[in-house]
Amino acid sequence: MRIGQGWDNHRIKAGRPLILGGVAIPCDFGLDGHSDADILLHAITDALLGSVALGDIGMHFPDTDPQWRGAASTQFVQHAQSLVEQRGYTIVNVDCTVVLERPKLKDYRTAIRENVARILGLPAVDVNVKFKTSERVGPVGEGLSAEAQAVVLVQLRQG
Ligand code: C5P
Ligand code: MG
Repeated sequence: MRIGQGWDNHRIKAGRPLILGGVAIPCDFGLDGHSDADILLHAITDALLGSVALGDIGMHFPDTDPQWRGAASTQFVQHAQSLVEQRGYTIVNVDCTVVLERPKLKDYRTAIRENVARILGLPAVDVNVKFKTSERVGPVGEGLSAEAQAVVLVQLRQG
């Protein structure tokens, strides 16, 4: 077995979409960025790359490359998963945390969890999504940014 960890943060910007785990959250602001700024899928992408020691998201998807402008982060995470599988590993489970002061995300927990599981081709029981505020402290707490963290366990495919 191997383990990978990922972290991402993006600046909050009015009028941008707020997309977490591929799910559009109704909100008057979103996250700024070159792609769709889906911090949750970016953190999971980095965790997947980390699990097989393949560097980070910027190495594989440079934000200077017009090919990835406005890209759905689903493509990033699925490409990272294919690299994990090429090395003979499969995902055991994914656990992640989104840190965002508002809006409340718990009403979207099932949608986000099931969508992340669908993207990775996993049963929902192998994916967990947690939400935290930053208790009004720091850039996240002041509503300037949002963060996501992810941990992924992979194991050598049997047979
Ligand atoms: O950050 P805090 O400990 O106050 O979060 C309490 C709970 O509120 C979390 O466990 C989570 O279920 C929920 N929450 C949420 N949306 C957020 C932040 C927290 O639904 N943006
Ligand atoms: Mg990002």
